[in-house]
Amino acid sequence: MNANASKVALVTGASRGIGRAASYELAKQGYFVVVHYKANHAAAEETLAEIRKLGADGFAVSADLDKLEGIDQLFSALDKGLASRGKPAQLDLLVNNAGVADGGTLADTTPELFDRQFTLNVKAVFFTTQKALERMPDGARIVNLSSVLSSRVFEAAGQFNALSAYSASKGAIDTLTRHWAVELGPRGILVNAVAPGPVDTDMNAAWLRTDAGRATAIGASPLGRVGTAGDIANVIGFLASPASQWTTGQVIDASGGYRL
Ligand SMILES: NC(=O)c1ccc[n+]([C@@H]2O[C@H](COP(=O)([O-])OP(=O)(O)OC[C@H]3O[C@@H](n4cnc5c(N)ncnc54)[C@H](OP(=O)(O)O)[C@@H]3O)[C@@H](O)[C@H]2O)c1
Repeated sequence: MNANASKVALVTGASRGIGRAASYELAKQGYFVVVHYKANHAAAEETLAEIRKLGADGFAVSADLDKLEGIDQLFSALDKGLASRGKPAQLDLLVNNAGVADGGTLADTTPELFDRQFTLNVKAVFFTTQKALERMPDGARIVNLSSVLSSRVFEAAGQFNALSAYSASKGAIDTLTRHWAVELGPRGILVNAVAPGPVDTDMNAAWLRTDAGRATAIGASPLGRVGTAGDIANVIGFLASPASQWTTGQVIDASGGYRL
């Protein structure tokens, strides 16, 4: 169970949703978890409290990843936090989870909406990973959050969720995952992505917590239910564990068979 004890993981967007659930899974594996969040300090502290209940440890760091200075702040706080606990500035696992999903048709997507998706979902992932790499030993792991929407279009029961800008940003994640897996393979660094379908988190609450939205999501999976953050965390946990040592460059579907 503690094959990863003393290893350090950074999970971006770990105050809520999938990032929080992933942090719990990593804590169960013995990782020391750096809980990143943007503004929701109380939620980040709750994540941390649960990590401690699970017998692991960590600390929380706030940074706005929409800005390159935010990425610098994240890593100086990470180095400082690790140093103050007698740990080297080493990162064994990065989970690029923080993301934003705004809907808009082709006709009504503004340049601002478009930029919001690509700034956090792609540019921040790129430059966070660049900084993380400076601290990664050979054999480290990178897990990116993609989406089923990078390869499938959401259209069910007469509902079309116009999300092309968001979905394209996740397509970029799939591409980065494959390229980085090849680039970093010689160092034994594994790079994979997880592609969830609809998951019950704050991100899509406005749609998924309505009767119609919920029914549509349930109807899209042969398993007949909506995904939970824990479902996705299990897959992230696999990719963070020794068991995934022969898996790299993959986008792993974690959608309950969404629209097979
Ligand atoms: N939920 C789904 O159905 C679903 C499906 C497919 C893929 N995904 C992907 O899974 C990932 C997590 O989704 P989720 O549903 O768990 O999200 P969520 O519940 O909305 O949580 C978003 C997290 O990102 C952080 N964040 C937001 N804006 C940020 C910024 N500018 N800089 C830094 N951090 C920021 C938030 O911090 P604060 O708490 O401080 O605001 C929070 O921790 C995303 O990449 C998403 O695209 C989700």
